[in-house]
Amino acid sequence: MTATTSDIDKAAIDKAAGVLRAGGLVAVPTETVYGLGANAEDPAAVARVFQAKGRPPTHPLILHISGAEHLGDWVAEVPATARLLAERFWPGPLTLVLRRGHRVPLAATGGLETVAVRVPDHPVALALLSAFGGAVAAPSANRFGSVSPTTADHVRSELGDAVDFVLDGGPCEVGVESTIVDATGETPSILRPGGVTREELEDVLGRPVADGSGSRVRVPGQHPSHYAPRAEVVLVEPDRVLAEARRAREEGRRVGVFLPPALADAPVEAHAVVPVPASTTAYARGLYGYLRELDLRGCDLIIASLPAERGLGLAIANRLRRAAGPR
Ligand code: TXA
Ligand code: MG
Repeated sequence: MTATTSDIDKAAIDKAAGVLRAGGLVAVPTETVYGLGANAEDPAAVARVFQAKGRPPTHPLILHISGAEHLGDWVAEVPATARLLAERFWPGPLTLVLRRGHRVPLAATGGLETVAVRVPDHPVALALLSAFGGAVAAPSANRFGSVSPTTADHVRSELGDAVDFVLDGGPCEVGVESTIVDATGETPSILRPGGVTREELEDVLGRPVADGSGSRVRVPGQHPSHYAPRAEVVLVEPDRVLAEARRAREEGRRVGVFLPPALADAPVEAHAVVPVPASTTAYARGLYGYLRELDLRGCDLIIASLPAERGLGLAIANRLRRAAGPR
């Protein structure tokens, strides 16, 4: 069943909260991507999330809560740095990994003694979380390994009957997932780049933030191949895009091209072309939709290049690398 929620549709929110209480699955719009939500405290409901996605049960989910003031209910300890980040960035696209509180079943954390938590910045998600009262465990609402959904239609076409209720909150504003930060200690590190930039974190913390390669926490679920469309994705330098597209076309491939902004007016020999916006905000917002569009148009190869890896460009480059990763 489907609800359309352009404003906030109170009846749809109540219905969705009821589905969660009954152990069902609700697709939830957030500012990043759509999530596939279940009552985090109901292991059977959480198991259905893994089943619907075809995701291995060792890959932990993110808990969504209605406000930073509830963080202490779900984690064993809130270090000062985590408190600062929560106050500064929530609601928003930042996920904090902390020590697991006793209310959180191991089913939701993939057996880990840590738990990932965030407060999404979307009025429909916040209305649902307030009405429901508990935490909603939600991975992105796509099949395991494939492109994350940024519209309600993406969810419906990919998960169909596996989801009991779809809350439609319109297209996602940010378009890439949250930044995941290991905040278990006093020296946070980035486990997955996302909607909050490294620069924004460093501004607030007043010191450099490392990527997670040195982190003590284990990060299951970060496979080399992820966010992948059906088409093969090949990354090349921007000045090679046109030549590679021509060559692949001559080989009979149905080529889709992510056309870099610097080449906006260049003649392209390709089956389908997506002009990449110059603004990384617009690029992030559009990224998953572009990958889906080129699949829909029947491309079997997508040629793209990486943006500069600063600001949101870091998250975009991370997703493109994984989309191009070995399958
Ligand atoms: O923006 C987002 O974060 C979206 C929306 C729906 O909130 N959610 C999302 O969930 O991207 P998902 O399941 O696709 O990615 C969650 C990732 C896991 O794959 C894992 O890498 C990491 O979060 N994660 C979750 N719990 C963790 C933990 N306890 N320790 C380390 N990493 C964790
Ligand atoms: Mg995901």
